[in-house]
Amino acid sequence: MSVQHKLNLSKTAIARSSEYAIEYLEQLDRMRVSPSVEQAKLLDVFDESMPPQGMDANEIVQLLHKHGSPNTVATAGGRYFGLVVGGSLPACAGSRTLMAAWDQIGTTHFTSPITSKLESVASDWILDIFSLPKQSSVGFVTGTTMGNFVCLAAARHFLLARLGWNVETQGLMGCPLIRVLASKEVHFTVKKVLALLGIGTNIIEPLEVDDDGAIDIDKLPTLDDRCLILTQAGNVNSGAIDPIGAIAAEAKKVGAWVHVDGAFGLWAAASEKKKKLIQGFECADSWVTDGHKWLNTPYDCGIAICRNAEAVHNSMSTTAPYFAAAVDIDAKDMMPELSRSARGIDIWAALKNLGKDGVASLIDRNCEQANRMASGLKDLGFDVLNAVVLNQVVATFPSHEDQIDKLVKSVVDSGEAWFGVTEWQSRSAFRISFSSWVTTLDDVETTLKAIKKAKQKLGW
Ligand SMILES: Cc1ncc(COP(=O)(O)O)c(C=O)c1O
Repeated sequence: MSVQHKLNLSKTAIARSSEYAIEYLEQLDRMRVSPSVEQAKLLDVFDESMPPQGMDANEIVQLLHKHGSPNTVATAGGRYFGLVVGGSLPACAGSRTLMAAWDQIGTTHFTSPITSKLESVASDWILDIFSLPKQSSVGFVTGTTMGNFVCLAAARHFLLARLGWNVETQGLMGCPLIRVLASKEVHFTVKKVLALLGIGTNIIEPLEVDDDGAIDIDKLPTLDDRCLILTQAGNVNSGAIDPIGAIAAEAKKVGAWVHVDGAFGLWAAASEKKKKLIQGFECADSWVTDGHKWLNTPYDCGIAICRNAEAVHNSMSTTAPYFAAAVDIDAKDMMPELSRSARGIDIWAALKNLGKDGVASLIDRNCEQANRMASGLKDLGFDVLNAVVLNQVVATFPSHEDQIDKLVKSVVDSGEAWFGVTEWQSRSAFRISFSSWVTTLDDVETTLKAIKKAKQKLGW
């Protein structure tokens, strides 16, 4: 096959997929948010055994669009309110296409100079937008789960090294004990990370929380220099932010490590209107947030930030003779993976696309939409169970709380919007999260109408 022929194959597949991607985005606002039963039948076409012969790339793209596009959940649209999901900003959608052609490995300066450069710039911008210490390390990982993994590995290294133990070489068997203090409302993925790191979850000393799920500072136990304190900026249900500044002040007195899981809530710091909610968070030791939630990058993009870059390096660095010529600390030395995508470019593209003002306005817009949703729900007779301080609304219908899943199913089945059930303060409820750059106040009204209709259908 000639070089020209190979080039033509890639060119037509990329051109065709761009056409389909545009077609998809054009219908996004009108399509069902989740596929219908009929649409789901289109997936049967993929049930085949491993084909002996390959298929033309163009036909594959066509197959994906015809049978795959109708079976997506419209998370890139304006009425997907589940799981704190953002859309994909135009610059990211565009840069991803180029990145597919580039096929870069973001391992070192040498494997991809452009990735290394843009990840370095994006790191500076991240520290700038959050006003975090300039010497902090920034790692672009797959999500907050892996971001927590990186930061807690660094914390584990630091706390044990101070006790004379090198966890990377000596492992955990027989190591000195550290203490892990975590909010009763800690996200389940943080517990998973503790398990992955061999620290385990039995060690957790649970911290009492207030009615909105934020750590109660008055009930903080006595701290010491063996403590790893796990705080949260943005409770996944209520959006509440722990009093991180006050906790960090106590921790500093004894040399404890404070970590912030800010999967979405860290972005409050980027808004003049909301930053007071997260006051003092910059005094913590490590922070994690997602790009794919409130910054609206595509999946999967998480950001691990650590004041003590050396601790991250000590827990993540790798060497091999064929990487010996690296000129500086590389991505492979600050994150778990060796081969990795150029995902920091998504963060760079999103920040370049929005600018500081654009990020702030996105945060403020979504928070305003959450407030409108809360007041619309109250007008319909729902109880809003959380203080709507950020982008999260948790609500239930008092007289039919035990059937709240039926209401949610009815709205989801209508295809008008998507949100899920939850439990909050021992009450069955649903949760609506606002984090998309495409969501408008009209989307809020459309969703309220769908909820009203579902409620009437159920005879409530
Ligand atoms: C507070 C919190 N922590 C951690 C996570 C996990 O993030 P990811 O799915 O990006 O790994 C989430 C996701 O919703 C979250 O809200």
